[in-house]
Amino acid sequence: MNIVNGFKFLNGRDQFDCNVELSRVRNHFIPFFDHAIEIDPFSSVRKRSYIKLRYNITTGLVSVADNQQYFQTGDANVADGGKIREFHQTPSEFIDTELFRVLLKNNKEYLERYSEQSSLEEMTLGIHLIRYDILEGDISYASPVWLHVDNEPLVFVHLIDLSLSVIGGDNIIADSNSNPTHVVRLENFMDTLILDKSVQHAVTPLSSKNGQSKRDVILFTVEDTIQNAS
Ligand SMILES: [Fe+2]
Repeated sequence: MNIVNGFKFLNGRDQFDCNVELSRVRNHFIPFFDHAIEIDPFSSVRKRSYIKLRYNITTGLVSVADNQQYFQTGDANVADGGKIREFHQTPSEFIDTELFRVLLKNNKEYLERYSEQSSLEEMTLGIHLIRYDILEGDISYASPVWLHVDNEPLVFVHLIDLSLSVIGGDNIIADSNSNPTHVVRLENFMDTLILDKSVQHAVTPLSSKNGQSKRDVILFTVEDTIQNAS
């Protein structure tokens, strides 16, 4: 499914009407993020939380899904695919945050493209809050760690926070032969990378050049029906 011709970068500042709105949304959401995440039970190099939502593109109604398990196939994730993972659940108050309303509003045109191509009006949104939390000399990394194509037909990587002292954490885009074609660095609040399944991608492992560093992101994803078979 080709939704953004592989990938698209959106500048964080452009996602808000003004700097006052940007600052207000950011200042309200960062404490929520801090409290929502826990150590990833499948890898202590990350902290994270997850919530699976149901979303109807026509009515705009959002609800928390009954099933909160996360599944990827083995070919989409060589590290953790093929098994059900249960993460710490993001508090359901997430859907009442102003940030979530901004995400839904700004991502809607792409969700509509997905809806048209899939003929699905009702979709599953998987929302991952992920912190790469690194001390100088340590390392953190994503799962899977290198180039892959997700099961998810549409992925938005929204930056929440990035320490200036972070080394790595760059998004790599590659063609189907695994040749890298682009490097994108999300630096500012709500800088966004949109990915579809027509490219491979990865994020480079992270370290800290000075003390403790972090990279906080929200992965706002549309899950494939294969991930929610029960
Ligand atoms: Fe991915």
